[in-house]
Amino acid sequence: MRFFAQYRVPLLSTSLVIGLAAIAAFGQRANQPATSQSPVERGKYLVTIMDCHGCHTPFKNGQPDMTRMLSGHPQDMKISAAPPTPAGWGMVVAETNTAWSGPWGVSFTSNLTPDPTGIAAWTEETFVNAIRKGKHMGAAVNRDILPPMPWASYANLTDSDIKAIFAYLRTIPKIPNRVPSPLPPANRTR
Ligand code: HEC
Repeated sequence: MRFFAQYRVPLLSTSLVIGLAAIAAFGQRANQPATSQSPVERGKYLVTIMDCHGCHTPFKNGQPDMTRMLSGHPQDMKISAAPPTPAGWGMVVAETNTAWSGPWGVSFTSNLTPDPTGIAAWTEETFVNAIRKGKHMGAAVNRDILPPMPWASYANLTDSDIKAIFAYLRTIPKIPNRVPSPLPPANRTR
């Protein structure tokens, strides 16, 4: 008891110092996730958590088919007109999750692989501008990028994160797949 009474204060302050040091070290690590990751690793992480696969990788049996990773709407799945949308419903989605029909018409998810039918010709600048400005290929004169591409949310990414996504997309397998152009909206019944 006497021992404890004598050493209590130094013991307490030592553990406080160790505790603070641990918190400081942890805080530092938490603030610097990117330094231990290469841009490509960071890009892969972002593509995974931001659900690019949910729309750009065609679904098979309700799951993204990774043999067609990020290749966009399959060219052999022809859609020539917008399907009728039931009254009160906002959107119709193809079973692949790659064709979306709504008030804007029909949009088809792009091929994001580094194939000539994908984004092989895109520069990093094209990619950054498309995500930031919501214009096809980032050019002000081009059409708007259509829903449901969540570019307005992604526009809040840091430059280094957008560039990391692009760097990762450069490394994925090339998949030849020519995605069709968007279609106009169907005549609505309501
Ligand atoms: C909710 C569905 C959805 C998600 C999630 C999604 N996209 Fe898209 N994306 C689309 C659709 C649909 C288009 C086609 C839009 C069009 O034709 O205007 C598109 C188009 C694009 C384009 C081409 C834009 C252009 O200039 O024509 C790029 C690049 C792109 N997406 C990147 C991504 C990346 C990277 C992610 C993940 C970080 C992602 N998308 C997530 C639906 C989505």
